[in-house]
Amino acid sequence: MTLEGPNCAGVGLAPSGVAAITTALLAVLKAGDHFLVIDSAYRPTRNFCDTILKRLGVETTYFDPMIGGGIARLFKPNTTAVLVEAPGSQTFEMPDIPAIAAVAHAKDAIVVDDNTWATPLYHRSLDQGVDISIQAATKYIGGHSDIMFGTISANSKTWPAIAEGIRLLGICAGPDDVFLALRGLRTLAVRLAHHEKSALEMARWFAQRPEVLRVLHPALESDPGHAIWKRDFTGASGLFSVVLKPVPDKAVDAMLDTLTLFGMGYSWGGFESLVIPFDCAPYRTATTWAPGGPALRFHIGLENTDDLKADLDRGFAALKAAL
Ligand SMILES: Cc1ncc(COP(=O)(O)O)c(C=O)c1O
Repeated sequence: MTLEGPNCAGVGLAPSGVAAITTALLAVLKAGDHFLVIDSAYRPTRNFCDTILKRLGVETTYFDPMIGGGIARLFKPNTTAVLVEAPGSQTFEMPDIPAIAAVAHAKDAIVVDDNTWATPLYHRSLDQGVDISIQAATKYIGGHSDIMFGTISANSKTWPAIAEGIRLLGICAGPDDVFLALRGLRTLAVRLAHHEKSALEMARWFAQRPEVLRVLHPALESDPGHAIWKRDFTGASGLFSVVLKPVPDKAVDAMLDTLTLFGMGYSWGGFESLVIPFDCAPYRTATTWAPGGPALRFHIGLENTDDLKADLDRGFAALKAAL
């Protein structure tokens, strides 16, 4: 299964997205290495760096997602790898991957990208300087929230280490999950186009709402990451965040309790819409997360957008009634 284009030398399969990330990192890092990780990384990725990698003698430094070529100043003589996620899957900052990769390669380090948000259909990481591109195939590749699966696509420089790591760690994906992922690939392009269109419509709808302070979605012209998204990506998926104007927690709870089409869940990428409140302030280290109000991450599924708006209208009415 190769989605990543001609620069892909091999694809390793893992039993989940997290397993794909941890396997790739264990395969390429060693004791004494210094590792640069984007501050907006998926939290379990951070947790792995701060626990197991730390115990194994790998030092992690987190960097501002918007650092671009300025990342050069964070390199040490022992920096061997950089991890990016584009955009951050809660806060949606859009890093300049080609600029980061140019610095990394000049310093003989490799670049790992968690490309789950865009999938290789909308972002060909390996064509933009990334050496290892990870997909939590649990999300859009499966598309129905019923499999756990991850892929590690590597270029010719890194594939031997990835292949060895997968073999030595005994990493295998379940055959039923692989079957369902292959089936998901047949409809991926159609589903993603629908997610993109509906999510943009919903993002614009949220931006007009009086209860909303900001919408974090790189395909919106007003987003600080829009120019990079437009240059490096060919589409956007269904995941974005909304910052509400300040209200007490009980008002947000009333809104979430009222929604019927938006389930509360973490694992996005399926046909159903989801919402989850989040606050990354306690664990950010290179940047400050102070959005100015409660933050909600939405995944826009394949439902009718008028139905989704009607559900949210009821949710916002409940929010107001709880003030
Ligand atoms: C950006 C990102 N990467 C990786 C993962 C992990 O995927 P999995 O749930 O398959 O372990 C997730 C899951 O939420 C994710 O959002």
